[in-house]
Amino acid sequence: MDFTGKIAIVTGASSGIGAATAKLFSQHGATLALVGRNETRLHAVANQCEAGKGLRPLCLLYDLTSDENCDEVVRKTVQTFKRIDILVNCAGKASVTSLFDTTMDAFDDLVALNLRVPYKMSQLCIPHLRRTKGNIVNVFGAPGRVRPGFLHFAMVRDALQRFTKAGALELVVEGIRMNAVCPGLTRTNILSNLNVPEDDMAHAYEKLAHTVPNNVIIEPEEVAKMILFVASDASPNLTGANVVVDGAASGGV
Ligand SMILES: NC(=O)c1ccc[n+]([C@@H]2O[C@H](COP(=O)([O-])OP(=O)(O)OC[C@H]3O[C@@H](n4cnc5c(N)ncnc54)[C@H](OP(=O)(O)O)[C@@H]3O)[C@@H](O)[C@H]2O)c1
Repeated sequence: MDFTGKIAIVTGASSGIGAATAKLFSQHGATLALVGRNETRLHAVANQCEAGKGLRPLCLLYDLTSDENCDEVVRKTVQTFKRIDILVNCAGKASVTSLFDTTMDAFDDLVALNLRVPYKMSQLCIPHLRRTKGNIVNVFGAPGRVRPGFLHFAMVRDALQRFTKAGALELVVEGIRMNAVCPGLTRTNILSNLNVPEDDMAHAYEKLAHTVPNNVIIEPEEVAKMILFVASDASPNLTGANVVVDGAASGGV
């Protein structure tokens, strides 16, 4: 896969799947706009990208839950690189809540990041992707059983699945593709952001591994490979697809 001359925006690039995707894109010649909030981690990823083919990514430190910040990400990318070929919507988080909660705070918080941001970023990139016949890759969880505490996470995931399929139907007339890569349990910082202490992390992953059929926690580099394949020109008619990488965990659903 050769991404030489392609400009890709990767959200969530400071960590986990987004970081692995950014590094792999850079190894394959893409020029990158990396989005995250943690300055130290984002710059560390940018340095690793630059070490690959010497292309320095644009680092954009923004909280994407603000529409103005989404505008700025797209504006600065186009100002710097003059075009956008690929948008990878990878910023997201998990949180625990319940229908028995008495406020909407956790629900609104998750929808604002995991659902609204991919929609908003896609909307903003469409005029540029129309020119380049580019594509969008959304990243969200594989379909599966809903773990207690993750009802709203599952609702957002299912909405993103529909967004990808129906959005692709709208975009196909413009030559823009939209797909999703849907990983199963993947080793990232997602548990730290769920406040699992670092000392308990290995044990938490060990326990979680026993909840999937092949007892394997997926590495982010494997998910990144699929994201690159989907974003590449390898299959021009691949659009509206939700590509699941989950070791058959969703097989019984
Ligand atoms: N790991 C899994 O098991 C798994 C499984 C299925 C789906 N997913 C999905 O995959 C995506 C990537 O998750 P991950 O596992 O790689 O998690 P991660 O390591 O925690 O990375 C999350 C990324 O999202 C960014 N982010 C979070 N809130 C943001 C905000 N308000 N504005 C801008 N950026 C923000 C983070 O940036 P900062 O840290 O710089 O704030 C970070 O770069 C998520 O959508 C997640 O739901 C993960």
